[in-house]
Amino acid sequence: MKIDAILSPAELPALAKRDLRSAACVVFDVLRATSTIVTALHNGAKAIVPVSEIAEALAIQKKRPDILLGGERDGVRIRAAHKWHGHPARESSADTEVGNTQAGSLCHYSDVDFDLGNSPREYTKENVRGKTIVSTTTNGTRALRACAGAKTILAASFLNLTATVEFIKKNQPAQVLLVCAGTRENTALEDVLAAGAMCEMLLNEPLTPALSPLGRGEGDLQMSDSAVVARAVYTQAKSDLAAAVRASENARRLLAIPELCDDVPFCLQRDVFPLVAKMEADGTIRSR
Ligand code: MLT
Repeated sequence: MKIDAILSPAELPALAKRDLRSAACVVFDVLRATSTIVTALHNGAKAIVPVSEIAEALAIQKKRPDILLGGERDGVRIRAAHKWHGHPARESSADTEVGNTQAGSLCHYSDVDFDLGNSPREYTKENVRGKTIVSTTTNGTRALRACAGAKTILAASFLNLTATVEFIKKNQPAQVLLVCAGTRENTALEDVLAAGAMCEMLLNEPLTPALSPLGRGEGDLQMSDSAVVARAVYTQAKSDLAAAVRASENARRLLAIPELCDDVPFCLQRDVFPLVAKMEADGTIRSR
């Protein structure tokens, strides 16, 4: 098994050119998209449909009014009144005013309020049990869609890390590609830490001082340089993971928003939702 890692969202477009037919892509967006997906499934959601653009979400919901709209832009729930300085090309669509606006000027994201934001704490049993939710977030859902063509696509977080590792160990894919979704154009430390933790668990050997943090596995388990980097970062931080995550850009942004600050400790819980969140052939993510 070869373990590889994508540490920056800048690497995502190149995935379309890679042969992923023997790969299991494990997508991490710890703060907060994959943590939210896992929480929703744990609380009884039937499925999550990750899409890249708001217009896609609106089109799906128009065809299936029973589906809930979930997601964020700038970290908060998408609302019709929410204006944004942005680049219309990213959210271009006939369904929104955005499509006809010059880059950078103020524009609306959506002509309707979404039902849910991207805080995992909103995805309670009462809100999501039995429901399908179409979700669009800044990075996480895009990273999931960028893995199209992979043999297996999993949404992972600290909340379901061990269950995800056990799934990979049982299925022994030829290649594991750990995808760190990042934040906007930047690498997200919390995603790299989770990917590094997964590397360590797949190697079955917590690093000890005798073992170089730059060890790359042996035998039929090999790690790419980027996977070695992720594992080394995790080894460095694991004695106080919460402190490392709290210092990340994304965490500091969320901690500064009173109604979202509790998302950070929530997303740091380890293995509280022992499920595998797997994308099925129809593009929906369901609990395994
Ligand atoms: C993302 O998808 O980039 C993040 O999950 C954004 C967020 O939840 O604030």
